[in-house]
Amino acid sequence: MNQVTFIILGATGDLCKRKLIPAIYKLIENNKLDKFAFIGVSFDKTDINKILQESQKFISKINNSIWEKLEKASYYYQLDFYEKTGYKNLHDLIKDIENKHKLNGNRLFYLATMPEHFKIITKYLNENKIIFKHQHETNCSDCKKAWARIVYEKPFGHNLKSARAINNCIKKTFHENQIYRIDHYLGKELVSNISLVRFTNRIFEPLWNNKNIESVQIILKEKIGIEGRGDFYDKYGAIKDVAQNHMLQILSLIAMEQPKKLEAKYIRDAKAKVLKSVIFKDAILGQYEGYTQEKNINPESNTETFAALNLEIKNKRWAGVPFYLKTGKYLDQKDTSVHIKFKMVECLLTKGCPTDSNYLTLKINPDQGFYLELNIKDPNNNDQIMPVQMNFCHSCLFGPNTPQAYEHLILDVINGDQSAFVRADEIEHSWKVIDKINYKKFKLFSYKKGSNGPEQSNKLNNKIIRWRA
Ligand code: BG6
Repeated sequence: MNQVTFIILGATGDLCKRKLIPAIYKLIENNKLDKFAFIGVSFDKTDINKILQESQKFISKINNSIWEKLEKASYYYQLDFYEKTGYKNLHDLIKDIENKHKLNGNRLFYLATMPEHFKIITKYLNENKIIFKHQHETNCSDCKKAWARIVYEKPFGHNLKSARAINNCIKKTFHENQIYRIDHYLGKELVSNISLVRFTNRIFEPLWNNKNIESVQIILKEKIGIEGRGDFYDKYGAIKDVAQNHMLQILSLIAMEQPKKLEAKYIRDAKAKVLKSVIFKDAILGQYEGYTQEKNINPESNTETFAALNLEIKNKRWAGVPFYLKTGKYLDQKDTSVHIKFKMVECLLTKGCPTDSNYLTLKINPDQGFYLELNIKDPNNNDQIMPVQMNFCHSCLFGPNTPQAYEHLILDVINGDQSAFVRADEIEHSWKVIDKINYKKFKLFSYKKGSNGPEQSNKLNNKIIRWRA
């Protein structure tokens, strides 16, 4: 029986309204929650109905009886995160609500706040014993039978130093089995498919190395801008917003060695190991025209809204293979994809040799699936070779309504499955890569909204790049 009290700190923020409440709604609708309550917590003076109402527009087709269930079990608590006494009252409220809804005491805390609040919230939740140790997770016989798990939203810090400080604080306080560092990309269907495709099919592994692969492109392009998140975005920029986390997580799944088993501990060991070997080589940074006139943006801001990066992995498998990452706001299209380019084969034809090699492309967002690009004979011209795609389209086979990332991941937390969550060492290795970027060294190129970023991004580390998107 799934029983849980959700306590979301940062409940008035964008993430809670756009993603977390819709995910809870879907879990109710899909019968994944037997009993639950939801307590929204934040600095602001507001009420739960307002928060729920604002979230409605992010749920397609609301079923009234499901919505009513959510409404009846939802509460709001105003808390100054820095005021210790408020946490005692929060604890009393949680206990009252658990009694009222006859819940068994399982608690899922979600810190949907800026990372600078993580340490203080962790400290006070612990000091007030709101989060407790669980028998199974901590091997302690006198601990409670119910579980208490805590989810930390990204970005996890703003550099290695701050991420380490958060890790040290939370590891002192909680058992690693209780800690869920979330990266919603790991909940996306096609991202969670990467290791399965790689390791359950014989055909890929023998080719997955520098003898056969020429380069890898990881692309996360967005059509949208910063969507009123100027305060946050101007401090972080494209690299810290999505490359340090989503893109390096994808890279780690593509590049990791085969884990002993496809389960949390071994997958995370393999990802951490490869992330430790990643090095930064080169970057082209850009900012879209008009960025500095947006709300809450410093008019002199040098924050990048576009980045093209060249990374390399210093190990036997990948030595010499460039990994190219490209991301940006206000680009020509929404496209998250990975393009693995194989090396050319020696041409044995007398005329019409292939102009390009094979690609394996993983489509993550908005299309989902993958395709293998092969060369075949052009049926209309015997002397010509042409590329064709062997295509797997996820929605064509399974329909458009597979669970969204946050729904997936929240259910994983309830089930105690950490395989799609990021471990402390992975986060720290990723920050180490990003900390090596000396922003001041790179010119900031301007680009037009709706373009494919600055044209200078077609060259990295003195090599011309033919971006696949
Ligand atoms: C978030 C970033 O982590 O990911 C946003 O903070 C970005 O800036 C978003 O828009 C992209 O996620 P998705 O799932 O829409 O590709």
